[in-house]
Amino acid sequence: MTPARPRPGSDALRETLAYYRDLGVAELYLDERFEEHEEISNPPKRPASEVAALLQPLAHEVSGCLKCRLCKTRKQTVFADGSPGARIMFVGEAPGADEDAQGVPFVGRAGQLLTRMIEDGMGLPRSSVYIANVLKCRPPDNRNPEPDEIAACRGYLESQIDLVKPEVLVALGKFAAHFLLETEEGITRLRGKWGSYRGIPVMPTLHPSYLLRQPAQKKEAWADLLAVLARLGIEAPTRKGKTS
Ligand code: URA
Ligand code: SF4
Repeated sequence: MTPARPRPGSDALRETLAYYRDLGVAELYLDERFEEHEEISNPPKRPASEVAALLQPLAHEVSGCLKCRLCKTRKQTVFADGSPGARIMFVGEAPGADEDAQGVPFVGRAGQLLTRMIEDGMGLPRSSVYIANVLKCRPPDNRNPEPDEIAACRGYLESQIDLVKPEVLVALGKFAAHFLLETEEGITRLRGKWGSYRGIPVMPTLHPSYLLRQPAQKKEAWADLLAVLARLGIEAPTRKGKTS
């Protein structure tokens, strides 16, 4: 008698394997065209105009989001800045007062330092990279994000990364690094070592706000950004005189 055909459902894989076993198939081999299959499940990057068109409704959804308590205290949401076709995506923590007022990430003092790191340090226009935060709304008094706020907001950043499909992610500080790398390790241990988020290389580095307080650490962040440039085959600009 032919064994019962597997039914679809949560036990589908186990039933399928049992079905083949009952038919006398002892071993199953992965398809030789596995790599082709991977490409199907991980399609190539879309043209920037298409990515922009897909990000727009997401930004609109975020602008009205009520999924966590921060919606009550924000002035406005802060979705992202930069190019949907970017090769590099920077991920920060959450908007501060300046970002909350302007609706743009990294425009305050830490933001100005980040802009200098990108433009003077890496030699790239800020508008050529993509910049977003783990949280889209400002935590009151710039307190740390709460785990339930990160959980409520996470789908937005995940979608931004999925759509932009950067070649490299730069995690700015502990919260971005923990989000992308699913670890609780401290940022001083994580920084400078490549990790991965859904197959995208992640470089964790020190947050610009921390660098404002600890300027001697800027050389560490600079080394991390050089590693990003090297990975992308972009030549670092020659630096004359000043080192930060
Ligand atoms: N710090 C962040 O992490 N993000 C911003 O947008 C501004 C400051
Ligand atoms: Fe929504 Fe994120 Fe803002 Fe919370 S922080 S209200 S989840 S957009």
